[in-house]
Amino acid sequence: MKGSRILGTGSALPRRIVTNAELAERVDTSDQWIVERTGIRQRHIAEADETTATLAIGAARAALADAGVDASTIGLIVLATATPDNTFPATATKVQAALGCNGCVAFDVAAVCSGFLYALSVADSLLKTGMARRALVIGAETFSRILDWEDRTTCVLFGDGAGAVVLEASSDDAAGPDAPGILAARLHADGAHHDLLYVDGGPSTTQTVGHLRMRGPEVFRHAVTNLSSVLREVLEEANVSVDQIDWVVPHQANARILDATAKKLGIAPEKVIVTVDRHANTSAASVPLALDTARRDGRIKPGDLIMLEAMGGGFTWGASLIRL
Ligand code: ACO
Repeated sequence: MKGSRILGTGSALPRRIVTNAELAERVDTSDQWIVERTGIRQRHIAEADETTATLAIGAARAALADAGVDASTIGLIVLATATPDNTFPATATKVQAALGCNGCVAFDVAAVCSGFLYALSVADSLLKTGMARRALVIGAETFSRILDWEDRTTCVLFGDGAGAVVLEASSDDAAGPDAPGILAARLHADGAHHDLLYVDGGPSTTQTVGHLRMRGPEVFRHAVTNLSSVLREVLEEANVSVDQIDWVVPHQANARILDATAKKLGIAPEKVIVTVDRHANTSAASVPLALDTARRDGRIKPGDLIMLEAMGGGFTWGASLIRL
């Protein structure tokens, strides 16, 4: 069976940066509390003319340029988001229209913070069937639009942004553990934990968009347990030891979740890519945004073995082992 590999990455962030100090002027919080409990120092917040689609388009264009391929060669767009521009159509179709690759397959995936991991696996599977040869896989969010800005326990944690990768089907002769590609992936969901992390609105219930609600400490505990377990599953599936991993690119929810998960698995902290200090939690955008950041600053290099992992509302969680 053929596999697929990442040809290029890109990201986009809203122009406006909001520091913890600025937030402390609006809600009863402090820079010290936010930094100590989360590692977050600032986040980008979308202005009126910036939406999930505009950020996704920016990230997609950057990924196409990085890959050196034309949008007309894209046969599939999978966009992960929990904050689409409209209830329908899929934000992926707005990206498609802007890029001018009309006619290709385009749809959204809703798995909240794990959305990019889900989208990557779905795109990889579709490329393996031969449905398309090249795909854009995007994570894009404007969580600022679903935050309750009066709730200090949640509004300080999130930011807006987008990240994207160009994925290409690789030929059989390029397969093997040292060849670039997606080597192994595992996805999970457990709907029993709905009330720990959800949005209290939607078209079919309240006919409103609603606000994010979270029981943070309980989510924290589940995150460390579920992420450690799925990372072990993927390592086992790929027959790879923790020491062989060059980089872990985790969902950027909270620096303490990243530290606790790495510690539980015996992963050296210097191998963990951290962007939560600058971007906060950008949900489905956080993994591709962190991947692109670390590629562009020169840390992640071609040939590196990289573990991507995320957990979010649902709960949903997953991990992918890729060779760049
Ligand atoms: N500023 C100041 N004080 C605050 C704030 C704030 N922004 N928010 C809460 N507090 C107070 C609380 O009211 C509480 O006060 P009390 O002791 O007088 O009752 C105190 O700080 C401690 O609150 P906790 O909720 O126990 O703090 P905790 O150390 O658990 O940190 C946090 C909270 C940051 C939300 C943490 O639980 C967390 O990160 N959880 C993971 C959730 C997450 O990241 N979810 C994202 C989506 S899922 C995912 O990505 C994994």
